[in-house]
Amino acid sequence: MGVDDMKSNEIMNKVIRNLILAALALGPAAVLAAPSGQALSFTCAGCHGTDGSSVGPSMPAIAGMDPGVFIDAMKAYREDQRNPTIMNRMAKAYTDEQFKEMAWFFAGQRLRSMPQKHDAALAARGADLHKKHCEKCHEKGGRPGDAGTLAGQWMPYLEYTLGDFLDGKREWPRKMKRKVDAAVAEEGKNALPALIHYYGSQHQ
Ligand code: HEC
Ligand code: HEC
Repeated sequence: MGVDDMKSNEIMNKVIRNLILAALALGPAAVLAAPSGQALSFTCAGCHGTDGSSVGPSMPAIAGMDPGVFIDAMKAYREDQRNPTIMNRMAKAYTDEQFKEMAWFFAGQRLRSMPQKHDAALAARGADLHKKHCEKCHEKGGRPGDAGTLAGQWMPYLEYTLGDFLDGKREWPRKMKRKVDAAVAEEGKNALPALIHYYGSQHQ
């Protein structure tokens, strides 16, 4: 990690801390005032963008997210699963019904991802690996679907969360581990960077 990265991490941590404080202060009030999916989503906007297209890089975009995947994620966070840094605290403020309302709101938003710096050769390898090992569940190059969103997702977020799967800190989706193992067996230590650069190379 370079000095610039460390500096930007430090800034990011400060930003996150302030946003948590703001979000926690805002949360219950927003819930009482207008319990619709859109009103509930205002609390999320500071980190995930107004309509779920976050400005990154470690805040995942949630616009267009499949409602089933969204609700499963929120429930997992509420139960302190998936090794969250923040979302466990966020998720505890909401009921199942409110998860549903937010899920439908975000599912209706178009994901507007931003261009990300990526290595074109690595991304090309990633495209092959994806087609072979991931496309079956993450259809259309990983666009939002019932296995979540990979295409256009923030690369640092993908890196963290893949690391969590591999470290046993996030439960593997059924049958996914085998495929990640197969990609690593095929490509070695470049497999995950290649896949991440492929997903990051797609923006819409
Ligand atoms: C303070 C910043 C912050 C706020 C506010 C916030 N989030 Fe998050 N969210 C994150 C981070 C960071 C992650 C990655 C997991 C983690 O580290 O907690 C995340 C992850 C998620 C994910 C999983 C995305 C995926 O691809 O699996 C969902 C869904 C989500 N947040 C929904 C929400 C909703 C809904 C709200 C508002 C009620 C909200 N978040 C408010 C920072 C935030
Ligand atoms: C058998 C189906 C299946 C295969 C094959 C599969 N996945 Fe997944 N993957 C899923 C499902 C379902 C989810 C969402 C469930 C969850 O959040 O736990 C998911 C989630 C993910 C996530 C987390 C997304 C997020 O928003 O947090 C990443 C990253 C990921 N997969 C990468 C891959 C890669 C890379 C491959 C190929 C090497 C792959 N997957 C192959 C089913 C699969």
